[in-house]
Amino acid sequence: MSIIQVKNLTKVYSVAQKQPGIVGTLKSFFHRQYKHIRAVDDISFKINEGELVGFIGPNGAGKTTTLKILSGLLYPTSGQVSVDTYIPWQRKPQFQKEIAFVAGQKNQLWWDLPAYETFLLNKEIYEVPDHDFKERLSYLAKMLDIADLLNTPVKKLSLGQRMKAELVAALVHEPSILFLDEPTIGLDIIAQKNMHDFIKGYNSKFGATIMLTSHYMGDVEKLCDRVIIINKGKIVYDGKLAQIVDRFAKHKVISLDFGKKIEREKLKDYGKVLTFDLLNAKIEVERNKVADITSRLLKDLPIVDLSIEEPPIEEIIRLFFTKE
Ligand SMILES: Nc1ncnc2c1ncn2[C@@H]1O[C@H](COP(=O)(O)OP(=O)(O)O)[C@@H](O)[C@H]1O
Ligand SMILES: [Mg+2]
Repeated sequence: MSIIQVKNLTKVYSVAQKQPGIVGTLKSFFHRQYKHIRAVDDISFKINEGELVGFIGPNGAGKTTTLKILSGLLYPTSGQVSVDTYIPWQRKPQFQKEIAFVAGQKNQLWWDLPAYETFLLNKEIYEVPDHDFKERLSYLAKMLDIADLLNTPVKKLSLGQRMKAELVAALVHEPSILFLDEPTIGLDIIAQKNMHDFIKGYNSKFGATIMLTSHYMGDVEKLCDRVIIINKGKIVYDGKLAQIVDRFAKHKVISLDFGKKIEREKLKDYGKVLTFDLLNAKIEVERNKVADITSRLLKDLPIVDLSIEEPPIEEIIRLFFTKE
């Protein structure tokens, strides 16, 4: 059953334009000129209960705008949306209890206070019973490994710790639908991995429906079978991620650190050299040769560290467009 239904959704922002100088100010005072930005342009999709869907696309594609509309934070210009039978922008209290919008770059935690104070505030807002609050808080704090940080002022936490505390604050009312906007932005590798595990766990333990935006391929690859790709406000793909990666990302990038200086020439046998500066290099390798080339590299060269990376999502999307 579809728990989220979006039909012909469009959002146009109107931004007041001002001409330069005093004359411009006066002119725009009497004749305000507007520029119209079509951030979301006639999109439709459905999401089933319990799905974990990646919503991806380049900067400015319309991801955040869409999630904000689905969360009831913005009015659309036109189109129909239903989320768990509610119309989000009517902001019914019952709807608010069902959903959470969490943005990596925005925070709801009080900067000078311990995170725990914000959790208590949210407990009141969402009318969470004492018993449930205690139980959820201990589950979330344990899963995210921040139990001993709850009484530390938020401003003293690291970015990764703060992001975890943000999640707890957003999940104290145990919403069944999550809109996560760039939840791993700025996090280091370990914090990213913790976040992946947590999101996956929340999805499987509670059967929660999750829509997640990201421009890190890693997030989406680890978490989502299905992706919806948006570009310039339009949906350009909706389907299995595996299919696009197979079809469009023919290469992976091997990143190498050397124990001593090597010559660039030596690397050419293994793949296309993307960057090189004596002690480290990145080479591009065909996907189906990665295992073979990795073992040759390790055997032949003084390598101290090696990692295999996906091409950036922007690249896959670019390939996607040149091929279609
Ligand atoms: N409040 C706003 N006022 C005017 N334009 C906006 C506003 N928010 C976003 N936009 C514009 O709408 C487009 C889509 O933005 P956004 O939804 O934030 O994209 P994404 O999250 O995919 O990067 C961009 O061109 C952006 O500049
Ligand atoms: Mg965004």
